[in-house]
Amino acid sequence: MNGSRPSSRSKQHWIAPSILSADFARLGEEVEAVVAAGADLIHFDVMDNHYVPNLTVGPVVCRALRDHGITAPIDVHLMVKPVDRIIPDFAEAGATFISIHPEATEHVDRSLQLIREHGCKAGLVFNPATPLNWLDHVLDKLDFVLLMSVNPGFGGQQFIESALEKVARTREAVDRSGLPIRIEIDGGVKVDNIGRIAAAGADIFVAGSAIFGSGDYAGTIAAMRREIAAAPTA
Ligand code: DX5
Ligand code: ZN
Repeated sequence: MNGSRPSSRSKQHWIAPSILSADFARLGEEVEAVVAAGADLIHFDVMDNHYVPNLTVGPVVCRALRDHGITAPIDVHLMVKPVDRIIPDFAEAGATFISIHPEATEHVDRSLQLIREHGCKAGLVFNPATPLNWLDHVLDKLDFVLLMSVNPGFGGQQFIESALEKVARTREAVDRSGLPIRIEIDGGVKVDNIGRIAAAGADIFVAGSAIFGSGDYAGTIAAMRREIAAAPTA
Protein backbone atom coordinates (compact mmCIF):
# COMPACT_ATOMS: atom_id res chain seq x y z
CA MET A 1 0.00 0.00 0.00
CA ASN A 2 2.94 2.36 -0.70
CA GLY A 3 3.51 2.76 3.02
CA SER A 4 0.26 4.62 3.44
CA ARG A 5 -2.77 3.43 5.35
CA PRO A 6 -5.78 4.65 3.43
CA SER A 7 -8.34 2.86 5.53
CA SER A 8 -7.11 4.53 8.71
CA ARG A 9 -6.84 8.09 7.42
CA SER A 10 -9.47 8.53 4.75
CA LYS A 11 -12.11 7.44 7.22
CA GLN A 12 -14.00 9.82 9.40
CA HIS A 13 -12.94 9.97 13.02
CA TRP A 14 -15.68 9.85 15.63
CA ILE A 15 -15.78 11.40 19.10
CA ALA A 16 -17.81 9.44 21.65
CA PRO A 17 -18.43 11.17 25.00
CA SER A 18 -18.90 8.65 27.81
CA ILE A 19 -21.98 9.31 29.93
CA LEU A 20 -20.14 7.89 32.93
CA SER A 21 -18.84 11.40 33.62
CA ALA A 22 -22.14 13.17 32.86
CA ASP A 23 -24.49 14.59 35.49
CA PHE A 24 -26.82 11.59 35.79
CA ALA A 25 -29.54 13.71 37.41
CA ARG A 26 -29.79 15.60 34.09
CA LEU A 27 -28.78 12.82 31.70
CA GLY A 28 -31.14 13.69 28.83
CA GLU A 29 -29.97 17.32 28.78
CA GLU A 30 -26.34 16.28 29.11
CA VAL A 31 -26.57 13.97 26.11
CA GLU A 32 -28.40 16.65 24.11
CA ALA A 33 -25.64 19.09 25.01
CA VAL A 34 -22.76 16.88 23.83
CA VAL A 35 -24.59 16.03 20.63
CA ALA A 36 -25.13 19.75 20.00
CA ALA A 37 -21.44 20.25 20.80
CA GLY A 38 -20.43 17.89 17.98
CA ALA A 39 -20.37 14.37 19.46
CA ASP A 40 -20.73 11.62 16.85
CA LEU A 41 -21.97 8.89 19.16
CA ILE A 42 -22.82 8.43 22.82
CA HIS A 43 -20.70 5.95 24.77
CA PHE A 44 -22.88 4.15 27.32
CA ASP A 45 -20.94 2.26 30.02
CA VAL A 46 -22.80 -0.66 31.59
CA MET A 47 -21.22 -2.05 34.77
CA ASP A 48 -22.51 -4.84 37.01
CA ASN A 49 -20.41 -4.81 40.22
CA HIS A 50 -19.29 -8.33 39.29
CA TYR A 51 -17.27 -8.24 36.07
CA VAL A 52 -16.07 -4.77 37.10
CA PRO A 53 -16.12 -3.19 40.57
CA ASN A 54 -18.73 -0.55 39.83
CA LEU A 55 -22.43 -0.39 39.07
CA THR A 56 -24.09 1.88 36.52
CA VAL A 57 -27.16 1.73 34.32
CA GLY A 58 -29.15 -0.77 32.27
CA PRO A 59 -31.47 -0.91 29.25
CA VAL A 60 -34.20 1.25 30.83
CA VAL A 61 -31.84 4.22 30.79
CA CYS A 62 -30.90 3.60 27.16
CA ARG A 63 -34.62 3.47 26.33
CA ALA A 64 -35.19 6.65 28.34
CA LEU A 65 -32.61 8.49 26.20
CA ARG A 66 -34.36 7.32 23.02
CA ASP A 67 -37.74 8.35 24.43
CA HIS A 68 -36.24 11.72 25.35
CA GLY A 69 -35.54 12.21 21.64
CA ILE A 70 -31.87 11.26 21.34
CA THR A 71 -31.27 10.04 17.78
CA ALA A 72 -27.45 9.89 17.85
CA PRO A 73 -25.95 6.39 17.74
CA ILE A 74 -25.66 4.84 21.22
CA ASP A 75 -22.50 2.82 21.81
CA VAL A 76 -23.23 0.33 24.59
CA HIS A 77 -20.06 -0.96 26.29
CA LEU A 78 -21.10 -4.03 28.28
CA MET A 79 -18.94 -4.67 31.34
CA VAL A 80 -21.27 -7.38 32.66
CA LYS A 81 -20.95 -11.12 33.16
CA PRO A 82 -22.70 -13.14 31.85
CA VAL A 83 -23.56 -11.00 28.87
CA ASP A 84 -25.84 -12.90 26.48
CA ARG A 85 -29.09 -12.40 28.35
CA ILE A 86 -28.81 -8.63 28.33
CA ILE A 87 -27.83 -8.17 24.64
CA PRO A 88 -31.39 -8.46 23.22
CA ASP A 89 -32.63 -6.08 25.93
CA PHE A 90 -30.18 -3.39 24.85
CA ALA A 91 -30.99 -3.91 21.17
CA GLU A 92 -34.67 -3.48 22.06
CA ALA A 93 -33.82 -0.39 24.12
CA GLY A 94 -32.28 1.38 21.13
CA ALA A 95 -28.57 0.50 21.21
CA THR A 96 -26.71 1.02 17.93
CA PHE A 97 -23.33 -0.49 18.81
CA ILE A 98 -22.84 -3.20 21.46
CA SER A 99 -19.44 -4.40 22.65
CA ILE A 100 -18.51 -7.29 24.93
CA HIS A 101 -15.39 -8.42 26.79
CA PRO A 102 -14.16 -11.93 25.85
CA GLU A 103 -13.60 -12.74 29.55
CA ALA A 104 -17.27 -12.05 30.27
CA THR A 105 -18.78 -14.71 28.02
CA GLU A 106 -18.27 -18.46 27.66
CA HIS A 107 -18.76 -18.30 23.90
CA VAL A 108 -17.35 -15.20 22.24
CA ASP A 109 -18.38 -16.15 18.73
CA ARG A 110 -21.96 -16.82 19.80
CA SER A 111 -22.25 -13.55 21.74
CA LEU A 112 -20.95 -11.56 18.76
CA GLN A 113 -23.44 -13.26 16.46
CA LEU A 114 -26.22 -12.49 18.93
CA ILE A 115 -25.43 -8.77 18.72
CA ARG A 116 -25.66 -8.75 14.92
CA GLU A 117 -28.76 -10.96 14.90
CA HIS A 118 -30.44 -8.26 16.95
CA GLY A 119 -29.56 -5.60 14.40
CA CYS A 120 -26.66 -3.93 16.21
CA LYS A 121 -23.01 -3.39 15.30
CA ALA A 122 -20.79 -5.84 17.17
CA GLY A 123 -17.57 -5.02 19.01
CA LEU A 124 -15.00 -6.98 21.02
CA VAL A 125 -13.25 -5.21 23.92
CA PHE A 126 -9.66 -5.76 25.01
CA ASN A 127 -8.54 -4.90 28.53
CA PRO A 128 -4.97 -3.63 28.88
CA ALA A 129 -3.71 -7.17 29.63
CA THR A 130 -5.99 -9.05 27.22
CA PRO A 131 -4.04 -10.46 24.28
CA LEU A 132 -5.05 -9.50 20.76
CA ASN A 133 -5.11 -13.10 19.58
CA TRP A 134 -8.78 -13.17 20.55
CA LEU A 135 -9.17 -11.41 17.20
CA ASP A 136 -7.76 -14.27 15.16
CA HIS A 137 -10.97 -16.18 14.51
CA VAL A 138 -13.69 -13.56 14.86
CA LEU A 139 -12.69 -10.66 12.60
CA ASP A 140 -15.55 -11.42 10.22
CA LYS A 141 -18.00 -11.06 13.11
CA LEU A 142 -16.77 -7.62 14.13
CA ASP A 143 -17.82 -4.11 13.18
CA PHE A 144 -15.39 -2.58 15.67
CA VAL A 145 -12.64 -3.39 18.15
CA LEU A 146 -12.60 -1.48 21.44
CA LEU A 147 -9.17 -1.18 23.06
CA MET A 148 -9.18 -0.25 26.74
CA SER A 149 -6.45 2.19 27.71
CA VAL A 150 -7.44 1.93 31.40
CA ASN A 151 -8.67 -1.00 33.46
CA PRO A 152 -12.45 -0.91 33.15
CA GLY A 153 -14.66 0.26 35.99
CA PHE A 154 -14.11 3.97 36.48
CA GLY A 155 -13.80 7.23 34.62
CA GLY A 156 -10.99 9.69 35.17
CA GLN A 157 -8.07 7.23 35.13
CA GLN A 158 -4.66 7.75 33.56
CA PHE A 159 -4.10 6.61 29.94
CA ILE A 160 -1.95 3.44 29.81
CA GLU A 161 0.71 4.14 27.18
CA SER A 162 1.13 0.53 26.05
CA ALA A 163 -2.33 0.83 24.50
CA LEU A 164 -0.76 2.81 21.65
CA GLU A 165 1.19 -0.20 20.41
CA LYS A 166 -1.95 -2.28 20.69
CA VAL A 167 -3.83 0.25 18.55
CA ALA A 168 -1.10 0.06 15.91
CA ARG A 169 -1.10 -3.75 15.92
CA THR A 170 -4.88 -3.83 15.65
CA ARG A 171 -4.73 -1.32 12.78
CA GLU A 172 -2.31 -3.61 10.93
CA ALA A 173 -4.55 -6.64 11.45
CA VAL A 174 -7.67 -4.74 10.36
CA ASP A 175 -5.99 -3.30 7.26
CA ARG A 176 -4.60 -6.71 6.38
CA SER A 177 -8.11 -8.17 6.61
CA GLY A 178 -9.57 -5.53 4.30
CA LEU A 179 -12.69 -5.55 6.48
CA PRO A 180 -14.45 -2.27 7.41
CA ILE A 181 -13.71 -2.63 11.14
CA ARG A 182 -13.37 0.48 13.26
CA ILE A 183 -10.89 0.81 16.11
CA GLU A 184 -12.15 2.49 19.26
CA ILE A 185 -10.05 3.59 22.22
CA ASP A 186 -11.48 4.03 25.70
CA GLY A 187 -9.89 5.42 28.85
CA GLY A 188 -7.85 8.49 29.69
CA VAL A 189 -8.32 10.09 26.27
CA LYS A 190 -7.62 13.84 26.43
CA VAL A 191 -6.92 16.72 24.05
CA ASP A 192 -3.20 16.29 24.69
CA ASN A 193 -2.96 12.59 23.76
CA ILE A 194 -5.70 12.13 21.17
CA GLY A 195 -3.37 13.05 18.28
CA ARG A 196 -0.95 10.26 19.17
CA ILE A 197 -3.83 7.80 19.47
CA ALA A 198 -5.15 8.83 16.05
CA ALA A 199 -1.66 8.51 14.56
CA ALA A 200 -1.48 4.95 15.89
CA GLY A 201 -4.65 4.12 13.95
CA ALA A 202 -7.73 4.57 16.14
CA ASP A 203 -10.84 6.12 14.59
CA ILE A 204 -13.36 6.23 17.46
CA PHE A 205 -12.35 8.11 20.61
CA VAL A 206 -14.24 7.67 23.86
CA ALA A 207 -13.76 10.53 26.29
CA GLY A 208 -15.64 10.87 29.56
CA SER A 209 -13.97 13.15 32.06
CA ALA A 210 -12.13 15.13 29.36
CA ILE A 211 -15.44 16.27 27.85
CA PHE A 212 -17.98 16.25 30.68
CA GLY A 213 -15.36 17.54 33.12
CA SER A 214 -14.64 20.54 30.92
CA GLY A 215 -16.76 23.65 31.14
CA ASP A 216 -16.98 23.85 27.35
CA TYR A 217 -18.12 20.68 25.60
CA ALA A 218 -18.01 22.19 22.10
CA GLY A 219 -14.59 23.75 22.67
CA THR A 220 -13.15 20.47 23.95
CA ILE A 221 -14.58 18.40 21.09
CA ALA A 222 -13.32 20.97 18.56
CA ALA A 223 -9.86 20.90 20.15
CA MET A 224 -9.86 17.09 19.93
CA ARG A 225 -10.76 17.27 16.25
CA ARG A 226 -7.95 19.75 15.59
CA GLU A 227 -5.44 17.42 17.26
CA ILE A 228 -6.70 14.46 15.22
CA ALA A 229 -6.48 16.45 11.99
CA ALA A 230 -2.93 17.51 12.80
CA ALA A 231 -1.80 13.99 13.73
CA PRO A 232 0.90 12.41 11.55
CA THR A 233 -0.34 9.58 9.36
CA ALA A 234 2.62 7.35 10.39
C1 DX5 B 1 -14.14 2.83 31.96
C2 DX5 B 1 -15.14 3.18 30.91
C3 DX5 B 1 -14.84 4.40 30.14
C4 DX5 B 1 -14.79 5.66 30.95
C5 DX5 B 1 -13.79 6.57 30.31
O1 DX5 B 1 -14.42 1.55 32.44
O2 DX5 B 1 -15.28 2.11 29.98
O3 DX5 B 1 -15.73 4.55 29.04
O4 DX5 B 1 -16.01 6.33 31.02
O5 DX5 B 1 -13.65 7.68 31.12
P1 DX5 B 1 -12.43 8.68 30.95
O6 DX5 B 1 -12.49 9.23 29.57
O7 DX5 B 1 -12.66 9.69 32.02
O8 DX5 B 1 -11.17 7.86 31.17
ZN1 ZN C 1 -16.42 2.43 28.12
